[in-house]
Order: sequence, then structure tokens, then C-alpha cells
Amino acid sequence: MPNLSLDLDYRPKLGKKQDYGIGIIGAGAIVNVAHLPAYRKAGFHVAGITDLDQNRAAATARQFKVPNVYPSVEALLNDPAVEIVDIAVPPWHQLELVKQVTAAGKHLLCQKPLSNDYTEAVAIVEMGEAAGVKLAVNQQMRWDQVIRASRTLLDRGWLGEPVSATIDVSILTDWRAWPWLLEVEGLDLMYHSIHYFDSFRSLFGQPERVWSSGSTYPGQPAKGETRTLTVFEYTDSFRALISTNHNNQSDDVYATIRVDGTEGYAAGTFGLLYNYPHGRPDTLTFSSRKVYPHISFDHRFEEMWVPDSFIGPMGELMVAIEQDRAPETNGRDNLQTLQLVHAAYRSMAEHRAVSPGEIK
Ligand SMILES: NC(=O)c1ccc[n+]([C@@H]2O[C@H](COP(=O)([O-])OP(=O)(O)OC[C@H]3O[C@@H](n4cnc5c(N)ncnc54)[C@H](O)[C@@H]3O)[C@@H](O)[C@H]2O)c1
Repeated sequence: MPNLSLDLDYRPKLGKKQDYGIGIIGAGAIVNVAHLPAYRKAGFHVAGITDLDQNRAAATARQFKVPNVYPSVEALLNDPAVEIVDIAVPPWHQLELVKQVTAAGKHLLCQKPLSNDYTEAVAIVEMGEAAGVKLAVNQQMRWDQVIRASRTLLDRGWLGEPVSATIDVSILTDWRAWPWLLEVEGLDLMYHSIHYFDSFRSLFGQPERVWSSGSTYPGQPAKGETRTLTVFEYTDSFRALISTNHNNQSDDVYATIRVDGTEGYAAGTFGLLYNYPHGRPDTLTFSSRKVYPHISFDHRFEEMWVPDSFIGPMGELMVAIEQDRAPETNGRDNLQTLQLVHAAYRSMAEHRAVSPGEIK
């Protein structure tokens, strides 16, 4: 196989102004592992941070040289240097924080899931709209290298008309690393596979119907489902499958994506999940009868899903502010991802295909 390097145009597109002041609420795992390493790499300006746990906020600020530790959310919002508020707390705290942030008239990057309650998610989006601020949701996997590169291949028509797509993930997840997740009723779809749902939406649009089946694993410490199989049916002949298993006890873990079209295919791996949390870069192999018949291209990326893809939603929010338009992962768009997640849960409960439009 030749190892030709093609421009797959997969990196986030940043704007002219990249020094908006970011104020972070929450100094937990994801901020330390992903947000701040990504922002440091991109050169974004973090004005300050706050957390209910002040020691955590102070330790994070020390590690990443964040200039201010605010004693409260109010203090963060009162600082004129904070132009974008980056919320990174468990979802049931998000609505209350969005109320405060929108009242202060600041732009926001909300966490996914926007809320685990659909009505509450709608309320959050409406608050952002009423305040006239830009609200983006941190569905960063759209900027994962293999997802963006697949999008490039699809946009260029190199794969022809998409016919089928599969994400197949079989890993061992120790949920005890996130104690608050042990207690949630809906686990994999709401907190993990939501990334795959949103990524497929970014590649193929909103499906017509969803079929889903979920289950637990004998003796698992978490309450919610840890194995899910979901099928997306579209209006045309295209079909997608997302299979996620968090209970793979063997050494043979895998996390793959494959897209087949009438003119070619793309097959990749999500490197992060092979040796979590250290991981390795994603890989992508593709061929296109339209471009070079009989040749497969192999691409190994330099970046990693985490933290690099976290540059995407924040960078895109900055461009949206600069251009005064909605960000790609805006609240309205995200409601469609949440409708899919809730439709999948309804499908599991009622053993039938569910249209995302049923979720209101
Ligand atoms: N976008 C992604 O890819 C991604 C990945 C992982 C986690 N997440 C989401 O990020 C959020 C945080 O996850 P985590 O693993 O970092 O959790 P965590 O428990 O490690 O950290 C959460 C922090 O928020 C603080 N906090 C809670 N309520 C607060 C409030 N009202 N004001 C100030 N601080 C408050 C807590 O004290 C804690 O330090 C969750 O919603 C999770 O779903 C998103």
C-alpha cells in the first residue's frame, strides 16, 4: 500500500481573533485532561477558573498557569475579562449556571449532555436565544481527526453516495473513575455513545428512525446500561450501526469506524480507546474509485482525539462570535442529538423503532 500524504483538511478552522477571555466553571477531570491542555496548545487565553471546591480550582490554576481563581461563579461573571464562559460540571447543575451566565450576557460553551432531561435542555437553548448570546455545546468528537477526515472525503464526493456506516467500540471502562456516573439511570448512550450519535449526525444528518437495545453486564458497579446496539434508519437506503461495549475483559479491545459508499470506503480507528487514557493517534485507510482506482491510502494522524479535538468547539465558537453566526454545535443543533439519544432510550424501553421527532 503506498503511504501517500493527502490534505484531508481535518484540523479545526480558527478565526482571526483568538484571544477572547475564557472563564471556566468546574476544575474537574475533563478540564484538566482535555480543556486546558487543548487551549494551551491552541494558544487560547484562559482568564480564570472557579469551582465549588476551591482547592481543586487553585491546583488546576497552578498547573496550567491560569491567572485568576474566582471565589464564586458571580465573581467570574463580574470580571469583564471573561467573554466566554466554559461550563464543565455534571449536567444537572448546568441549567442553573446557564441562567446566571445568560443574565450576565456572556457567550457560553456548555457541556454535553446539555441536560439529561430533554425539557431542561430546551429551556437552556431558549435562555441563550433570549439573551442573544452564542451558545455552543462541547460535542468535540466532530473534530476528532478520523471523523473530520471522513467528512472531507464525503464532502469531496470521493466515497460517492454513502450506503452504510458503522462505529464498533469494544473496550473495558472502569466507571468508578467517575463516581457520579455510577448512579445515573441512562449511562452509555447519554454520556458516551452520544459522541458517536453526534458524529454520525455531522456526517450523515438526522436519521428518520432509531432502533436500540441496551443491557448491563453481570456484577457491574454502575446502574445504567454498559452495552448498546443502535441502528439509524434514514429516508434513503443509507443505514448506520453504533455498537458500544464497555465490558471487554480481553486484551483485544477495538474502536473502529467504517463508511462505505458507492465509490469507495473509509475505515479508521479511534486511537484514544486502545490504551485509555494514554491512547495513540487515530488511523484512517480509504480508497476511492473516483480518485485513484485500486489504491488505498493510509493516514496516521499526529494529533490525538483527546485533547486535540477540544480545540474544535471552542475555536468554532470564537469564529461564530467574530462572524456573528451560530456555531456548528449550537444549542438548536444539539437538541437534535439529544432527541436521538432519548429516542434510542424509548426504543429500548418499548422495543420498537422510534422517530426522534417523538421526543418533545
Ligand atoms: N465534552 C466531552 O467530551 C466530555 C468528556 C468528559 C466529561 N464531560 C462532561 O463534563 C462534565 C464534568 O465532568 P468531569 O469528569 O470533569 O466531572 P468531575 O466530577 O471530575 O468535575 C466536576 C467539577 O465541577 C465542580 N462543580 C459542580 N457543580 C459546580 C457549580 N455549580 N459551580 C462550580 N463548580 C461546580 C465540582 O466541584 C467538580 O470539581 C460532565 O457534564 C461530563 O458529562 C464531557
